[in-house]
Amino acid sequence: MKVLVLHGINLNMFGKRDPAQYGTTTLAEINDRLATLGAELGVEVETFQSNCEGSLCERIHQAHGEPVDAVLINAGAWTHYSYGIRDALAILHCPIVELHMSNVHAREPFRHQSVFADVVIGQIAGFGADSYGLALRAAVQHVRARSA
Ligand code: DQA
Repeated sequence: MKVLVLHGINLNMFGKRDPAQYGTTTLAEINDRLATLGAELGVEVETFQSNCEGSLCERIHQAHGEPVDAVLINAGAWTHYSYGIRDALAILHCPIVELHMSNVHAREPFRHQSVFADVVIGQIAGFGADSYGLALRAAVQHVRARSA
């Protein structure tokens, strides 16, 4: 099983952003933890980050032709308004899990909306860096249950 993890705009700055919202863990550390958990769960994990909306869309298009079993996405602020990324995600046939480090629903009103909500199987938010591990476990469990 292969899981593609997509990190969107400004997430390369984790570790330098507001620690009250995002803690102090860097994106490299998050990717290392995902690789370790992936090995434990017996799944291949690939990570991709971009600050360019078009590049993220193109990585999603590429995933359409690849043997990707699930996608995790933290698109950062794009979550709240990018219909381009939403439409790219809608092309995929595999399950998609949306996640956020912070509890977006306890923050500014513009963060309460996700334009991805109807194209993902579920959302995880508010557990800091652990949101990634929880999202990976949720995606793997979902795929395994579906193919059992
Ligand atoms: C975020 C929440 C978004 O509202 C914000 O724009 C981010 C990070 C999170 O992980 O909590 O950049 O997606």
